[in-house]
Amino acid sequence: MKRKVLLMGASGSGKTSMRSLIFSNNPASLTARLGATIDVEQNHVRFMGDLILNLWDCGGQDSYMDTYLSTQRPTIFQQVGVMIYVFDVESRENHKDLEYFRDCMAGLKQYSPEAAIFLLIHKMDLVRERSQVFDKRKVELEEASEGAKISVFGTSIYDESLYKAWSNIVHTLIPNASILSRHLSTFAEACNAAEVILFERTTFLVIATSSSNPSSTRSSPEPHETPSTEGLDSKRYERTSELIKAFKYACTRVREEFRSLEMEMYDFTAVLDELTKNTYVMVIVHDPTIQTAALKMNIRLARRKFE
Ligand code: GTP
Repeated sequence: MKRKVLLMGASGSGKTSMRSLIFSNNPASLTARLGATIDVEQNHVRFMGDLILNLWDCGGQDSYMDTYLSTQRPTIFQQVGVMIYVFDVESRENHKDLEYFRDCMAGLKQYSPEAAIFLLIHKMDLVRERSQVFDKRKVELEEASEGAKISVFGTSIYDESLYKAWSNIVHTLIPNASILSRHLSTFAEACNAAEVILFERTTFLVIATSSSNPSSTRSSPEPHETPSTEGLDSKRYERTSELIKAFKYACTRVREEFRSLEMEMYDFTAVLDELTKNTYVMVIVHDPTIQTAALKMNIRLARRKFE
């Protein structure tokens, strides 16, 4: 199954940077070396078994934007599964950015009215009053979207916010996410685990959690969350994605391959291990009598169920 993902926004807003961080495991510090994208760069990313993301990174210079919206309009906007539109929070051309955005929304409405729309207010690390700036820009974008269903996130390549946004994005593309979530709950019960989290292997984006659907629990804990996860940091999933990606990068620098991770702290034990060809699972228990070897064995035994 192939899903087309359009990555759009003004030149320099940060599209290629986020793509290289999420899909190529590059650190944020290397993004300054990226040149402007010429025309459209297409990539195929195998994601979770049969799902292939067909990423269209659309160079944002005005001349390219003008052709996307005129001669290439049907090519760009047809059969889109998700459009991600990136806005540089510090842009000096806010008015022009919004004009192009409106035009892209019209193209999407015409050729792919069912597409999910994600708007990223990016480079949030550059602003001081984050929530105030975010709220103001969000209202602006909602007005420009004229009632279309949109999801808005504040993001930066320098913190976990990018992982939160992208986990939500891929979550909309995975057809069986809720079934996965149910299976993870069963697995969590079997292991007496407080929580079980499923990550995609290359990106380390959160696919599903045992608590419930990640897109709803990750911004604010839901009332029906199990008591054992109450009071935990609501950013814990995206923080884990970010930390593991950084750790994986550190491993490649010393020519080692990341395989698995075990942690035994005074109040919890965590095991992160391969579950299927395309996923990793993290199991967290609060019971000190449960050994990591037992958790690893349970993961091994559960593998066939998740393949
Ligand atoms: P085009 O290819 O011309 O469309 O541009 P683009 O949207 O792909 O921009 P690109 O990813 O090349 O990023 C431009 C610059 O923004 C780079 O120097 C990045 O390092 C920087 N950048 C990207 N994301 C962030 C961010 O979250 N915060 C900050 N401060 N800088 C960022």
